[in-house]
Amino acid sequence: MTEGDLQALGEQALEEIAGAVDQDQLERVRLKYLGRHGGLISLGAQALAQAAPEQRAGLGRAFNAAKEATEAALARRLGELRASRRGIDQAEEWLDLTYPTSPLPRGHQHPVARLIREIEDIGRALGYESVRGPEVEDDQYNFELLNLPPDHPARDTHDTFYLAGPAQGWLLRTHTSPVQLRTMMAGPPPYRILAPGRVYRRDNPDPTHNPMFHQVEGLCVDTNITFGDLKGTLDFAMKAFFGSSVKTRFFPSFFPFTEPSADVQISCPFCGGSGCRKCKYSGWIELLGCGMVDPAVFGFVQGKQPGYDPKKISGFAFGMGIDRIAMMKYGIGDIGLLYSGDLRFLEQFA
Ligand code: DAH
Repeated sequence: MTEGDLQALGEQALEEIAGAVDQDQLERVRLKYLGRHGGLISLGAQALAQAAPEQRAGLGRAFNAAKEATEAALARRLGELRASRRGIDQAEEWLDLTYPTSPLPRGHQHPVARLIREIEDIGRALGYESVRGPEVEDDQYNFELLNLPPDHPARDTHDTFYLAGPAQGWLLRTHTSPVQLRTMMAGPPPYRILAPGRVYRRDNPDPTHNPMFHQVEGLCVDTNITFGDLKGTLDFAMKAFFGSSVKTRFFPSFFPFTEPSADVQISCPFCGGSGCRKCKYSGWIELLGCGMVDPAVFGFVQGKQPGYDPKKISGFAFGMGIDRIAMMKYGIGDIGLLYSGDLRFLEQFA
């Protein structure tokens, strides 16, 4: 047996080790090359013992190299076979449709989106259809048709972003109330709609202000709709949303598009009305504006939709901010966090 024979033997062993497809086969390869009785490398060891003294050093090096390489390859292949599923070589086609997949990362709703859906669910139970209106509006829909003519002082709190260039005359809506008018212009009553969405105002961002926030608009138009219907609807909705022990109370207010108008407060759902930080120790939280649709608004629509005769129909509307509710409900101290896209914040709502 020569050095070349030993080298060839080592290479042959490596090939067979690489080709072993399971642990049994690998063990057979091991015995064939390293076995105490008759293993080929063992034969090499015998040859070494019988070799002439001047050949021994070279033979010994070749023998050791082949043996170490074989042992290392065996250990590596054994590790691979153990790691590969069921000891089947990954190079073979392997398909088990029942094998569990690795978990897929799963998303979740944004807290504001979640509240909107909860509100829509309550609305749906009361027969309210969810609709959407455009975020880019014109002065007519955002203001004039809502009885806010140019120079009306109620516009002061509704400064917004105005589009320039070819889109001049368009603005980012300051409230969801224009959806009331879009609904009316689209067809005759009766209907009940909820219109959630983004609204914009020219505000400097601070912990309680953001130039973009969310509102939900509600509108119900039919014959014989009364302020009592409005009160009953909102009282039911607030109880459904915040819990049945919550009370509502209505205060006279002013909105150009409703007459009469009211602000609605709910008893603090967090402390039960005894006073806490969230209700500023008053026991009550002001939550929305509402009122009976001003006949003047129906009058604007009547030219296009004759079904809007203010003598024959009536309706109520309400508008509620969502971001502030999310902040109270989840104890969020800075409205900007809702829109930061920061996963460390968002993942807390998974
Ligand atoms: N649009 C009003 C605002 O943004 C909120 C509002 C008040 C909406 C009264 C209504 C309503 O529909 O009837 O301040």
